[in-house]
Amino acid sequence: MSDLQKKNAGEAAAQYVEAGMVVGLGTGSTAAWFVKALAARNLPDLRCVPTSERTADLARELGLTLSTLEDTPKIDLTVDGADEIGPGLALIKGGGAALLREKLVWEASARCICIADAAKVVPALGTFPLPIEVVAFGHKTTANRIADVLADHDIGSPARVREAERGLIRTDGGNLIYDAACKLIADPARLASDLKSLTGVVEHGLFLDLTDLAIIGTDDGFGTINP
Ligand code: A5P
Repeated sequence: MSDLQKKNAGEAAAQYVEAGMVVGLGTGSTAAWFVKALAARNLPDLRCVPTSERTADLARELGLTLSTLEDTPKIDLTVDGADEIGPGLALIKGGGAALLREKLVWEASARCICIADAAKVVPALGTFPLPIEVVAFGHKTTANRIADVLADHDIGSPARVREAERGLIRTDGGNLIYDAACKLIADPARLASDLKSLTGVVEHGLFLDLTDLAIIGTDDGFGTINP
């Protein structure tokens, strides 16, 4: 049961937090279990930096003390979910559209723990569509240049803008998300660098060399993976 696995991973990660820490709070259903378990520990002097408005609302509701990257630019530990966990703990993130704030918080963290259910662990990245955050202005021209980069990586299908019934999905920062159905990302580092070099691309969901530990929930506990 994936929800039980997510809960077990979130609760295990909460044990890594110590009193007085600045903690980065991830986004998504697994990160929500961590936030709940952290609040239940009632540790003194915690300051928490949320990676989305959704997580901020949950943390506030549970009585956690919130901070911002401006007020606490150095984070001791961030705990967050992932959409795929590949070899070397390379990740795809951003299924919840929070990838930009997530990456800002991860990169400001001394230690990052990824928490997930077992289905997220894959032999190679790319089955989960790669989220790419794009500035709304001129986004269709940016999408054309993303398509060129994808073709250069032997990824045939173009990225699709993420939308819901009420219209295009906006991130907390007001940007759009394109999802690239890559199938297989043969060279994640080169793709990350090529996407990042495009004007109009704000960030992509490849999180490479950022994870210090993965905690994978099982039905009766958890396991860990080191990079
Ligand atoms: C949010 O933008 C994502 O990076 C999430 O961390 C990721 O989608 C995992 O979500 P779940 O924990 O809900 O599977």
